[in-house]
Amino acid sequence: MKILGIESSCDETSSAVIDVNQGKLEYLSTVISSQVTVHANYGGVVPEVAARLHIEKILPIIDEALKAAKCDISEIDAIASCAGPGLISSLIVGVETAKSLSVSLNKPLIKVNHIEGHLLSVEKEFVGKIKLPAVALIVSGGHTQLILMKEYGEYELIGGTRDDAVGEAFDKTAKILALGYPGGPALSKEALKSGGKNEFNIKLPRPMIDSGDFNFSFSGIKTSVLYKWNDLKKTLSEHQLEIAKADMAAEFQQAVVDVLVEKTIQAGFQYNAKTIILAGGVSANKVLREKLANAVEKRLADVEFRFPEMSMTGDNAGMIAVAGYYHAIKKEFADPLNLSADPNWELV
Ligand code: KG4
Ligand code: ZN
Repeated sequence: MKILGIESSCDETSSAVIDVNQGKLEYLSTVISSQVTVHANYGGVVPEVAARLHIEKILPIIDEALKAAKCDISEIDAIASCAGPGLISSLIVGVETAKSLSVSLNKPLIKVNHIEGHLLSVEKEFVGKIKLPAVALIVSGGHTQLILMKEYGEYELIGGTRDDAVGEAFDKTAKILALGYPGGPALSKEALKSGGKNEFNIKLPRPMIDSGDFNFSFSGIKTSVLYKWNDLKKTLSEHQLEIAKADMAAEFQQAVVDVLVEKTIQAGFQYNAKTIILAGGVSANKVLREKLANAVEKRLADVEFRFPEMSMTGDNAGMIAVAGYYHAIKKEFADPLNLSADPNWELV
């Protein structure tokens, strides 16, 4: 079964072709056009600009994905489009394109939830191999959720953020420290410069780490960074500030990772998980990957740890096509004349 995936929920226009044959999964192509350099000029995604760029790119990107997959559009069995959550003006472009293709080519249409896409981005060579139940930590610019995956397509929300998403906290903290955009990668790069001596004794809170539930709160850490950084700026020399900046970045990253890892492991225990999944844009963070991998190995015996390939951590249509596959085999198709993008579509 060949599926064409389309993703345009935020600032990446992407299309991909996957082929699933007797359980074997092949990514025939994944093409991503990122707008990140454009939005960097504004320090964040400008929805109006994003939508215009999606309109320019969507058809050429789909063409490119089909060509790279050496696949004629007539060979496609179904079209999977991300229908939410995301920015409405961005989502509409992908959804309306998918609807037009579906009607004009008479191909089944599948609506895919962006979060389910991230969750299933950990599928690699084979489909259907995630050992269940699984606990998934989805961390992106817009979401921080712990999801219990009981079956493919059957999910339960076990925790979420009360305020900022993790990616958002990284982005805002990077802004305070003037590290550039996008903040996540910039901040983790800065953290690498820290010598680990922590000369200025920078210590940040680990909010809700012992709250006894699976919820998160990250806006307090960010505010703490703001106050401490403003204080340090009043007292330290330029040279000292350089050192303090790297230490602040490292401590911020560590604080966030500590909370994420602890809650995920606790959820793994409570729900007898056979797999721990880490996915979403922030899953590109190496410290988070390593600490969670270590904790799963040491504290959750015989539990598998799954995370996406680096190229699949950010928004991409490959993950949308994979999630689409599971709906296609259950014949869960959308009506191309009635499908609407839903910016607030929660998976669970
Ligand atoms: O999943 P994604 O590409 O888009 C959304 O669906 O939101 O996630 C983007 C988020 C941004 O906030 C970005 O700063 C963050 O992922 N991110 C990272 C890293 N790479 C990307 N955060 C921390 N460390 C990273 N290495
Ligand atoms: Zn995403």
